[in-house]
Amino acid sequence: MRIVLMGPPGAGKGTQAARLVETFGMKHLSSGDIFRAEKASGSELGRKLSDIMASGALVPDEIVVEMMAGAIAAVDESAGLMLDGFPRTVAQAEALDTTLKENGTPLDAVVVITADDDEIVGRITGRRACGSCGKGFHVKFMPSGKGDVCDACDGPLTQRDDDREDVVRERLAAYKKQTEPVIAYYRGSGAKVIEVNGSQSPDAVTADMVEALRSLGG
Ligand code: AP5
Repeated sequence: MRIVLMGPPGAGKGTQAARLVETFGMKHLSSGDIFRAEKASGSELGRKLSDIMASGALVPDEIVVEMMAGAIAAVDESAGLMLDGFPRTVAQAEALDTTLKENGTPLDAVVVITADDDEIVGRITGRRACGSCGKGFHVKFMPSGKGDVCDACDGPLTQRDDDREDVVRERLAAYKKQTEPVIAYYRGSGAKVIEVNGSQSPDAVTADMVEALRSLGG
């Protein structure tokens, strides 16, 4: 199964992606995670990405397309592929179409997780992740069983530097202006677009997604 996972920042893409990988076993490629790894490498490109991401703006298409084409080419997608956070502009979607056409690997579906702005701000500002193993938490909705440290590995819990409220509002504005048109692009091109209500409990969202994806034959 090959899917694109979309939705505003904080809708639950990363949370649900981890669960879908457990259920379906596909490879998960998150553009945000790939860019954060480049930031952490301390490269010149990483420093450039760091400034852009800290502002809440989107990374320029030419950088995104080159990095994601390389990442897609490098993975074994025999068990399927889930693209999370990419494409985020119509130009990126067109570039992805070209890559998938060349590879003979069409998309099965585009899954859009929805959530409203106030809920998103509450979710993102409470988000934490383990600095050691990467496990995700929320201080209120999905707290660690061990308080300020990770309940899986005792690592320190950290907050992303683009998770401040003012930056979240910029990220939401970028989503509405540049990414919502991608959903219309996919609808117009005849792709199967599945909308899932992200304003439910994480388990209920997972159940809806699994049911929708199973109906595709996954
Ligand atoms: P990226 O890393 O992709 O971030 P994002 O899309 O803004 O999404 P998030 O990771 O913030 O949220 P999520 O939907 O994964 O939510 P999560 O599951 O963590 O991108 C970061 C930046 O990189 C961009 O701003 C841009 O600069 C750049 N970038 C990336 N891709 C790009 C591209 N293609 N083009 C250009 N630039 C690009 O959940 C959030 C919190 O809520 C968590 O704490 C979680 O525990 C909690 N939660 C989740 N689900 C629920 C629920 N159902 N109920 C209650 N709490 C919940």
